[in-house]
Amino acid sequence: MIATEGFKVTKAKNSKLDSIDLNNIPFGKYFTDHMLEANYENGEWGTAEIKPYQAITIDPACAALHYGQAIFEGIKAYKTREGEVFIFRPEDNFKRFNISAERMEMPAIPEEIFMEGLKQLVKLDEKWIPAKADHSLYIRPFMFSTDEVIGVKPSSKYKFMIILSPTGPYYSAPMRIYAEEKFVRAVEGGVGYTKNAGNYGSSMHATAEAKRKGYDQVLWMDAFEHKYVQECGTMNVFFIIGNTAITPSIDEGTILAGVTRDSVIQILKDMGLKVEERRLGMDEILEAYKNKNLTEIFGTGTAATISPIKELRYKDFVMTFETEKWKDAPEVKRRLNDIKEGRAEDKYHWMVKA
Ligand code: COI
Repeated sequence: MIATEGFKVTKAKNSKLDSIDLNNIPFGKYFTDHMLEANYENGEWGTAEIKPYQAITIDPACAALHYGQAIFEGIKAYKTREGEVFIFRPEDNFKRFNISAERMEMPAIPEEIFMEGLKQLVKLDEKWIPAKADHSLYIRPFMFSTDEVIGVKPSSKYKFMIILSPTGPYYSAPMRIYAEEKFVRAVEGGVGYTKNAGNYGSSMHATAEAKRKGYDQVLWMDAFEHKYVQECGTMNVFFIIGNTAITPSIDEGTILAGVTRDSVIQILKDMGLKVEERRLGMDEILEAYKNKNLTEIFGTGTAATISPIKELRYKDFVMTFETEKWKDAPEVKRRLNDIKEGRAEDKYHWMVKA
């Protein structure tokens, strides 16, 4: 059974919005007045409920805390100058959420709960969408197992929730990146293509080590030869070599099929660049840099949008870039933001009205 009869909605008595300065919002620190919650039990999803944002109570034996059956998504909503609210490509995130669920042996979330739930929730808290360039309302759907048992097996109960957070840029300045040769993020046959919580938890040690060396993030490489590029921090990554944009292929299952990645591929093609999705090794990157053919490297992601890389260190070799002279990454970002913020035609129908 699915919750076709609609959601139960309980509105917050008071809004917290007055206590928050929407002109100064670090990523993911403030949450809106409402949240959505739906529970899965006895093989079916119960009616979803939108209610005031509040803490939840979980049992110490809650399975997700022990074995990590937990997945999430990241989506953004924008307000146009005319005051209309649009969400960027949420169906793509809905599909990816259920791909993650399948790999983690979790139940699929019905489209009615995910899509209608996030539209209703965003509409209800639309005053929280910052009306400022490069700002948006970050939407975080997530699901975790809730069986109260510490045997290792797929849970029989799950909780799905959506929370919202007004947000500005994730990385405020061009990044310094350390190509990581010891720790790996993903391996063929693993879960690299999913958005499961463990992928992020297991990245933190390598990232902290890179930060201790003075870098902002790591460049993840393959688990066997430690030379083929996968992702950069929590982002997909693009290299501009000559008139070609190269980004690692998703075919090996080690890379998240980023919604921003897919949008950037389309925009780069619109700009007249050739785009290649394929294996890209550090030897090829180094050679292109030495020949002055490698001009730009940037990360892409929902939270980060487009993040330029000003320095990439691989072994003892340091590649540096004058990001303020770049053409392509700023142009991709401008075109993408113009679509998201309603200044350019949405010719690929990426924006969904809330
Ligand atoms: C996103 O880009 O939405 C992410 O999930 C990255 C990070 C904030 C976890």
